[in-house]
Amino acid sequence: MRRMLIAGNWKMNLTANEARAVIAALRAEIDRDAAALARDRDVMIAPPAVIIPAASQALAGSSIALGAQNMHFEDKGAFTGEVSAPMLKGFGVTHVIVGHSERRHVFGETDELINRKVIAALRHGMVPILCVGETQEEHDGGRTAEVVLAQLQNGLAGVDQAQGDRIVVAYEPVWAIGTGRTATPELAENVHGAIRESLRAQMGPEKADSVRILYGGSVTADNVDSLVSKPNIDGALVGGASLKADSFARIVRAKAR
Ligand code: PGA
Repeated sequence: MRRMLIAGNWKMNLTANEARAVIAALRAEIDRDAAALARDRDVMIAPPAVIIPAASQALAGSSIALGAQNMHFEDKGAFTGEVSAPMLKGFGVTHVIVGHSERRHVFGETDELINRKVIAALRHGMVPILCVGETQEEHDGGRTAEVVLAQLQNGLAGVDQAQGDRIVVAYEPVWAIGTGRTATPELAENVHGAIRESLRAQMGPEKADSVRILYGGSVTADNVDSLVSKPNIDGALVGGASLKADSFARIVRAKAR
């Protein structure tokens, strides 16, 4: 049985002081139930890179894992403005979001670049959360499966099959991100099922069946239960609703599957 993963993506929000306050409130909510929650789910938050040291300190001894929103694929070098896996790992970062739609569409990240980041994360023993998702136009044109599966296959090209089950995939339809227009559980499950099939073909059924596939896009405490009740929806990648401790804690307590 796959463990759920509830992951918060803070995007470019919260100063160090604000982050410390949110984490303290979150720990008060979540660490209290840590033993019960740990039975079937993992929790992660991904603050902005510069906030990671403060977040790392504030999370010391917590069951909440620390993630990054992005990273470079090289360990070091002349890459102004970038951060590397060893730098992140130095602060206890275990997960990294790769290929988020804002990275793809605002910063022009390509499948090839995203693939190098996935491989770098695995090389460093981190969990890459590979984001895939179609735009409104692609959705309207009936191209969802084609777009999502191409992003998936390109993003995972050359990944060592033995490491396949360490990967997390996040299906985030671009039209659902930050819009309040959550995909219906049925629509999301359809795409998640197609992702699972594609993973089976790529890495074999056993590895593919242990990959967690998260849904992201306007997840709230009110819709998370119906989403994770679907067989291939293994958790959520949460943007806006992860910025406040109470709303994120309510999502973390999603009904057990
Ligand atoms: P949202 O963002 O929950 O604010 O829609 C999700 C994401 O972009 O990861």
